[in-house]
Parts: sequence; C-alpha cells; structure tokens
Amino acid sequence: MTLSPHDIDDLTQTAVQAARLGGAILQDYAQKGFTIESKGESINLVTEADLQSEKAVIQTIRHAFPDHQILSEEQGLQDIPSHPIKWIVDPLDGTVNFAHGFPMYNVSIGVEYQGTCVIGVIYDPTRDELFLGQHGRGATLNGKPIHVSAAPTLAEALLVTGFAYDIHTATDNNLKEFCAFTVRAGGMRRTGTAAIDLCYIACGRLDGFWELQLKPWDTAAGKVIVEEAGGKITNYAGEPYSIYGSTILATNRLIHSEMLGVLKETRPS
Ligand code: IPD
Ligand code: CA
Ligand code: CA
Repeated sequence: MTLSPHDIDDLTQTAVQAARLGGAILQDYAQKGFTIESKGESINLVTEADLQSEKAVIQTIRHAFPDHQILSEEQGLQDIPSHPIKWIVDPLDGTVNFAHGFPMYNVSIGVEYQGTCVIGVIYDPTRDELFLGQHGRGATLNGKPIHVSAAPTLAEALLVTGFAYDIHTATDNNLKEFCAFTVRAGGMRRTGTAAIDLCYIACGRLDGFWELQLKPWDTAAGKVIVEEAGGKITNYAGEPYSIYGSTILATNRLIHSEMLGVLKETRPS
C-alpha cells in the first residue's frame, strides 16, 4: 500500500475531526467537573475527561478507518491485525494541568505509516489553536504556515522541559540538566505538556525543548509538526529521534549543537 495525496487528505480530515471532538469533551468536563484517579505514581493522574476524550477519538478513527491500528495512552494498542497505518493518540496531554484548572492541555493525534510519522494534529481547546503537520507539506497553526524561530544562540533562547512522573524517586531525573540549561539560556519554562512544547518550538514561541522518558503518544504528532516547521529533533546523542526512544531534543536547528553540548557535559556516559 502507498499513501496518495488523497489518502493524506482523508487521514488529516479524520485526525482534525477527532482532535476537535476530544477537545470539546475536555472543555465540557472543565466546566462541569470530573473525577480524578492516580495511576502508578501518586502524581500520575487520569481523569474522566482523559477516558471520555479517548473514547470519542477512537470511535471517530474507527468509524472512518475500521482496520487501522490505534495506540492510545489509556487503552494501549488495540488488538487488531497489523496494518501499515497506526494512529497514536494522547486524548489529554497535560492531565496535571487539567486536573488543577491550569489552562494548558490538548489532544494529540499522530498518524504513522510504515513506521514513519506522516501526520500530526494537536488541538489546544483552551486557545482554540489547531497545529497541523503533514509530511512534505509543511506545518500550520489554524491554517496559517508556521516556522521555527531564528534565535541564534542558547543565551538568546527561551527553553522548555518537563519531568517524568517518577521524579520523586528516580536518580536520572533531569534536575542537573535543568540547572545547567537555566544558567545558560535566555529563559526557561515548564508548561506541563510535551505536545504543546513541541508545537511552540514549531511556531517560534520557544526555541529548544528536551525531556527524558516521554511516550510515543506524547511526541508522535509533535515530531511531524516540528520537522515540517523547519525544526530539528534528535535524541541526546544527536541521532535521529524515534518516538519509541527515551530522550528527545527538539530545537529551531540553530541552537541544536549547543544544546547537545550541554547535555553531553551534564550527562557523562
Ligand atoms: C505528560 C506531559 C508532561 C510531561 C510528562 C508527560 P500527560 O503527559 O506531556 O509535559 O512532562 O512526562 O507524561 O500525562 O499529561 O498525558
Ligand atoms: Ca502525554
Ligand atoms: Ca495523557
């Protein structure tokens, strides 16, 4: 099977429809309230909104493409025979923000074709911002083309990172890297959503992002959006980034080697 431009359009249309539907469900729960449970580590939460958004997103995809594979955060990999197209879904990225009423969260949907991410849709319902990346076609925010920033050095860059849920116990917990970058960068932020971090790299609001232990659903969509906006993504060793890998560095390209240098210095092998 090869993907035609028409296939890309159809997949994109469904991804956008599903992300907007999930976003509407999140906003509905944000208004009316929701139950919260913790999974594994006590700071790793799941809400009714995650589950209902996921249900609606999966139903939308299933309705349009009954035989495609779907990997989603709460339900895992759907038990159907292998297919060259895999949807990768985070029905609520930024759950801790959502649970606290901190308005920064989104629905993230990536489409992988034969192991390569070809479409990424991230919808932030709090700002009504829809980020789209399509392999070979560029990236947009609400339909307008976006591009990474022109910040030339780390000293002028606004950086962002995040911390995994095992931070209370893990020794490799990103704190050394956080300190090293904070004293060298123009500024430092932590948004609490990796998908938004990647979108903001893509549209130039942020210049560099690194994090450990993200999952495929955190980065599948954002990877396409960043790359199509002219950014660069690797692992901490500077090798091609895999959404199944354990480290990510995404930048405007210009500060990439400087950031790799700081990571190398801070994380002796
Ligand atoms: C989390 C967010 C956060 C990142 C965590 C992720 P979730 O996803 O993307 O920014 O630091 O590592 O697990 O749990 O809100 O979907
Ligand atoms: Ca996530
Ligand atoms: Ca999530």
